[in-house]
Amino acid sequence: MRVLVTGGAGFIGSNLAKRLAKDGHDVVAADSFLSAHFLNLVDFPGDVLTLRDHEDVQSMIDLGRFDAIFHEASITGVVGANGENFNDQQRMMRNNVETFRQLLDWSVETKAQMIWASSCSIYGRGAVPMKESQAPDPLNIYAFSKLTMERMAARYAPRLAKPIVGLRYSNVYGPGEDHKGKLASMIHQLAKQMRAGKRPRIFTAGEQKRDFVYIDDVVDVNLKAMKSKTSGAFNAGAGAAWSFNQVVAELNRVLKTDLQPDYFTNPYSFTQDWTQTDLSAAKAAFGYAPQYDLAKGIDAYHASGKLGISFA
Ligand SMILES: NC(=O)c1ccc[n+]([C@@H]2O[C@H](COP(=O)([O-])OP(=O)(O)OC[C@H]3O[C@@H](n4cnc5c(N)ncnc54)[C@H](O)[C@@H]3O)[C@@H](O)[C@H]2O)c1
Repeated sequence: MRVLVTGGAGFIGSNLAKRLAKDGHDVVAADSFLSAHFLNLVDFPGDVLTLRDHEDVQSMIDLGRFDAIFHEASITGVVGANGENFNDQQRMMRNNVETFRQLLDWSVETKAQMIWASSCSIYGRGAVPMKESQAPDPLNIYAFSKLTMERMAARYAPRLAKPIVGLRYSNVYGPGEDHKGKLASMIHQLAKQMRAGKRPRIFTAGEQKRDFVYIDDVVDVNLKAMKSKTSGAFNAGAGAAWSFNQVVAELNRVLKTDLQPDYFTNPYSFTQDWTQTDLSAAKAAFGYAPQYDLAKGIDAYHASGKLGISFA
C-alpha cells in the first residue's frame, strides 16, 4: 500500500512510519520539522516530505493519492517542549482542526482510508474507567480541538470510502519522545532525573494513577484499526493504571538505582487522580489487546537504549 504518515518525524508518527515500511508498504513521512527530530527517522528507509509550516496540506496533496493516511500531526498540548504557553486558541484550532478538514476533503476525493490520533484528554474530569459513551469534558483548547476533530470525522464518515477511526491515546511512552521536552512521558522525564543521580520529583504522595501505554501497542492499534468495519473514536490505552510510585519502583529496578521519590505539592488547580481506559469498544471493533504492562514496557524501553537518554 502507499501510505502517508503525518507528524512522521514526531514520536508516534516516526515509530509508525518505520513499522509500516518494515511491513513492506511504500511510506511517506510528512512533517514540518518545527517540533520534531530528525534522529527519529535515521533508520526510516521511506520518503520524507518536509512541509512549509503546520498548515501546509497542499504539499501532501501534490504527492498524489495514498491508500491510507495515518494522521498523527498536531500541536500536542498547551505547553511547548520548553514550557512555552501554547494556550493560543486560534493557533490550536487552525493547526489541528482546519488541517484535518482539508485532509478529510482530500480523503473523500481520493477514497483514502483515514486513521487519526485523538486523545483521552477529551475525558477531562470524567468517570474512570473512561468509556467512549460518557460525556466529554475537555478542560483545555487542545482537548477541545480533538473533540471538534472527532465530531468532524463523524460528519465526514458517510462520505468516505472506508471506515474512519480516531484513536484516543492515553499516556504514550517509548523510544523517540525526547524532543517533546516537558510534553514527553513522565516515565522518560523521571528516568532522566534518575540517570542524573537525582531523586525523582513527583506530586505528593505519588499515588496518582495513569494509564501508561507503550509505543509498540500504539503502533499495533493503528495497524489493527485499518481492519475496523465501523467508523468512530476508540480508546487506545493500556486498559490499566499504575501509580507514579510504581513507575519510580520500576525505574529503580531497570536503572539499578535506589532513589526515593522527592514529593512536592501539586501546583496545578486541577490534575486527574486516576486515568484508565476501558478497551472493550476497540477490542470488539478491531481486536485491539495491548501486550505491554508497565514492567514489560519499561523493560522494552530500557532495552532500546533510549530510556531517560537525551537526544544529541
Ligand atoms: N504522546 C502521547 O501521549 C499522546 C497522547 C494522546 C494523543 N496524542 C496525539 O498523538 C499524535 C502524535 O503525538 P506525539 O506524541 O507523537 O507528538 P510529537 O510532537 O512528537 O509529534 C507531532 C508531530 O507533528 C508535527 N506537526 C504538528 N502539527 C503539524 C501539522 N499541522 N502538519 C504536519 N506536521 C505537524 C510536529 O512537528 C511533530 O513532529 C498527536 O496528534 C497527539 O495529539 C499523543
